Amino acid sequence: MSRFKHLISIDDLTKEDIDYLLSKADSFLPIAEEKRKLKILEGKILANLFFEPSTRTRMSFETAMRRLGGDVINMTSQEASIVKGETLADTIRVVSKYVDVIVIRHSLEGAARFAAENSDVPIINAGDGAGQHPTQTLLDLYTLKRESKLDGVKIALVGDLKYSRTVHSLVKALMLYKAKIYLVCPDSLMLPEELLEEVRAERVEIEDAISEVDALYVTRIQKERFPDEEEYKKVAGSYTITSSLLENAKEDLIIMHPLPRVDEIAVEVDNSKHAIYFKQAFYGVPVRMAILSEVIEWKRD
Ligand code: NCD
Repeated sequence: MSRFKHLISIDDLTKEDIDYLLSKADSFLPIAEEKRKLKILEGKILANLFFEPSTRTRMSFETAMRRLGGDVINMTSQEASIVKGETLADTIRVVSKYVDVIVIRHSLEGAARFAAENSDVPIINAGDGAGQHPTQTLLDLYTLKRESKLDGVKIALVGDLKYSRTVHSLVKALMLYKAKIYLVCPDSLMLPEELLEEVRAERVEIEDAISEVDALYVTRIQKERFPDEEEYKKVAGSYTITSSLLENAKEDLIIMHPLPRVDEIAVEVDNSKHAIYFKQAFYGVPVRMAILSEVIEWKRD
């Protein structure tokens, strides 16, 4: 029996569930690194339903499923019957009869939860609008655990804290690990009220954060989520992490980013010892292997 059926919000997991998944990811790490393939999900099929663009999330789910021996089918919004007027509920009802697990990304907050209500098979939320992105959070936590520390980590969340679903999921999980959270953002991109009430965090300037923290979690200012382009223009390019800004950083500071990056981190930083974001993206594979092997029932040989 798996510990949970669907993975919609990070709130669906207890700290024990998260620790369990992170240690499971450790056991899959060599398979992902050595690019090997297991057979534990042989015969199982994953459907990727992406109604919003994705590179890393979709491809790392696909890689994870294939490395576990399973198959993958993909659908993007252009191909979907949605353009013919089909409802999301109907699409899910049909696809859940074909496959063993569905990974869904949608621009509407709550879409994954709604999908789960209409599905016979596990639904994994790969991002619902500005809502949640729990699998990204698990790989973020895994990155902290492997490359820095998780318990009591001092971390600054930088950039678009209002619309970033990766931040919305991550802050909740960080609370479980008694992290010291700093917020660095323009006034108009502050965390939503309901999260601010839940989370213990301090607002600081970027320079102060850099000399203080173990990890910087930088996000893209998400143009597509602004109701008004003028509002976006006011804050676009607010923060850029450059080598000179990092001069006062702790020796072992790590810089994370869910990617894609636009201009929040200067390319010159990529070669510094602090830059961990590409490795972070790779950790999506063992972490998603852990998630998939958990939600899909499989028989040991
Ligand atoms: C993020 C997303 O889609 O929420 N990307 C990701 O999944 N790695 C962040 C973003 O789009 O800026």
